[in-house]
Amino acid sequence: MSVEFVVHPSDHPLAAAERAAILAAPGFGKHFTDHMATATWTPDTGWRDRRVSALAPFSLHPSAAVLHYAQEIFEGLKAYRHADGGVWLFRPEMNARRFARSARRLAMPELDEESFVRGVEALVRADEAWVPDGGSEHSLYLRPFMFAAEAFLGVRPAEEFVFSVIASPAGPYFAAGVAGVTLWISAEYTRAAPGGTGAAKCGGNYAGSLAAQREAREHGCDQVLYLDSADRNKLEESGTMNLCLITATGELITPGLGTILDGVTRDSVLALAPDHNLTPVERPVTRAELSEGCRTGAITEVFATGTAAVITPITAFRSPTDDFTVGDGAPGKTTLTLREHILDIQYGRTQDTRGWLH
Ligand code: COI
Repeated sequence: MSVEFVVHPSDHPLAAAERAAILAAPGFGKHFTDHMATATWTPDTGWRDRRVSALAPFSLHPSAAVLHYAQEIFEGLKAYRHADGGVWLFRPEMNARRFARSARRLAMPELDEESFVRGVEALVRADEAWVPDGGSEHSLYLRPFMFAAEAFLGVRPAEEFVFSVIASPAGPYFAAGVAGVTLWISAEYTRAAPGGTGAAKCGGNYAGSLAAQREAREHGCDQVLYLDSADRNKLEESGTMNLCLITATGELITPGLGTILDGVTRDSVLALAPDHNLTPVERPVTRAELSEGCRTGAITEVFATGTAAVITPITAFRSPTDDFTVGDGAPGKTTLTLREHILDIQYGRTQDTRGWLH
């Protein structure tokens, strides 16, 4: 079986001057490239019709299962342009494996790792001109996703799926970016429960987070920090990012896996920690430990990790009962050093000794 995506070039690509204007100030998730990758699945045929063709709307029957029961998963990764013009992906096989785990949890067909990576590669090759110049720390954000396309209103796993990859040139996810963001510790909303879909990257998790996100905004915060639904004293993740703490004793602590997303940046930061004289520790962190630690100085820095967010300093927390800053409220030095380290690897400014670039 061939896993190659057959390319049908668009006959109406955007003019080079218009593309250049977008690449100069891409924002996040607003502009899309000329092509998309797609493949379809039914129980009889398995995955078939792997192709790259002009970006176009999907045509869906109004009863398509995804529109009613949210059988949908997605991924996020980026293509980086190096100084020599070469274009690289960062650990795409980790996204492929997580995509397969998400598919299993949502009772969807798995896409093999090779097809996932080939689909992403084929799209990046077709839209290579859309990968921004790396000097600006812009990148091409890639969004692989899969949804239930079968027209049927019964509640059961669908029997027709579409896999697709779209691409969007990207600047910083947060306007404040490396200046640091504030997290709202939600007392009301949780994002995941044991046995639920918290570890899966499915659209439904994000739909459920929007009311909490709105609450955060109403309180002047950029994002939500969720508490564990079984033990409301424990910190979980922030919905679009994993949470990391640096202690005065040189530990880099992050909540363990289970109901949170197994982030690629989270995993990479844990691997890089020893290079920065930090001991990586995965363990539960309580809310009291965070607030007390920030007050006493036992916790010196806090940051969040994610593909879109890279490493974003967290400079303050608010909740219905609390309001405190981390350190002096400025981004931490080690946070910024770790951020540079991972960006240096991604943009080829330092040796990739771990074989993370593809
Ligand atoms: C990512 O970092 O790729 C995410 O999935 C976060 C968000 C933009 C949904």
